[in-house]
Amino acid sequence: MKAKDFLNMQMNSLEIALKDDIQYHGRDYFKDFYMVPNSLSPVSINDIDLSCSFHGEKLNYPIYVGSLTGGEVGLTKINETLGNFAKKYKIAQGIGDQIHCLGNTVKDPIIQSYSIMREKNPEGVILSNLSAKCLVQSETYIEDVQKVVDIVKANGIEIYLSPLRDVLWDKNDFGLVGFIPKLKKLIETIDIPIIIKSVSTGLCNDDIRNLWDIGVSGFNIGGVGGTSFARMDTLSHLTLSQKQSVSPIKRPLDFFGTPTVWSLLDIALRPENNDIPLIVGGGIRNGLQAVKALAMGADLISFAYPILIELTEDFGYPKERNLERWLERLIFHIKTVMALFGAQTIEDLRSLVKSRTVIFGRTKEWINGRNLAFPPKFIRKLH
Ligand SMILES: Cc1cc2nc3c(=O)[nH]c(=O)nc-3n(C[C@H](O)[C@H](O)[C@H](O)COP(=O)(O)O)c2cc1C
Repeated sequence: MKAKDFLNMQMNSLEIALKDDIQYHGRDYFKDFYMVPNSLSPVSINDIDLSCSFHGEKLNYPIYVGSLTGGEVGLTKINETLGNFAKKYKIAQGIGDQIHCLGNTVKDPIIQSYSIMREKNPEGVILSNLSAKCLVQSETYIEDVQKVVDIVKANGIEIYLSPLRDVLWDKNDFGLVGFIPKLKKLIETIDIPIIIKSVSTGLCNDDIRNLWDIGVSGFNIGGVGGTSFARMDTLSHLTLSQKQSVSPIKRPLDFFGTPTVWSLLDIALRPENNDIPLIVGGGIRNGLQAVKALAMGADLISFAYPILIELTEDFGYPKERNLERWLERLIFHIKTVMALFGAQTIEDLRSLVKSRTVIFGRTKEWINGRNLAFPPKFIRKLH
């Protein structure tokens, strides 16, 4: 796919994400992971410490602003706002697909739609973003990665896998033939953390082991539960009246993939994965889900759609603080839940998994079916 077509798709994605319903509304598997509250908790909300680090960089909160946008002058404002936001709260952030930075004829304003994020957040943790498909299709993938990383002076790069969207877009899609050797070469050549991310379909242990062994620095396991790129694709093909009908057309693969919680458990419950840093996202929408993900082994919790809608509310209303209020409420909610469990730190939460959690329903079946042990016999490390 040419960059121009991709750009149209990206503008389209943003529009669809804001105007249509691309969210999963099925079962919330976080509910299967029950943490028993501590009625005698000695922890006060004011004592809770959420500070953490990611690849050696200190952060105030284990929150990650998921990749959203860039590549169009009209989108500069979004990345500017997100840069200011991440700096103010000292949280990590991703950036939208940087494919638009590649090629010889890229105009400065396009580059600036990305670089503005670094300008506004000079000391922060920012991860660059390119698709695995882009690497597969490029002869100059090493220079491409170096270029996009330099533009935002990134602390690392996320290379994302979107197998479902790739086939929906191109029926003759050849998958990721040749990706692993290229990735290996990239890791040997470029001295920057490379994080492999899944968009909407999730990752499992079998996916990540080989990638970890060749030197990948961590994973963003984005599973089923929130925004679906496949649903976005379905909606992009519907007419207004089809969308507005009582039950808008659904396609069988709209929410295909592994739920976020199952992906996380499949990776984090195995002691051999204890050294692997994990960003976890895909449908995390409140503090209780975030706390459970941290307890299960997430190092950073990623939010994309909730941030997009809050920040869009702020545009045109400079005194509104929807995005900031959203984060402050989320942090308050996270701290409240931690206090109720009696956990002062993320480390405390991890220890509670051994003694104060029960797994129900289909998630329990997943644990059995994947030969996982629960409760785990070890406490997952912080990274
Ligand atoms: C409008 C929109 C654009 C996105 N663009 C990108 C992108 O360019 N690169 C990427 O890796 N993920 C992209 N994502 C995926 C998000 O970063 C995130 O992984 C996904 O939305 C799941 O998280 P959520 O359920 O919190 O939205 C995009 C998501 C949305 C809603």
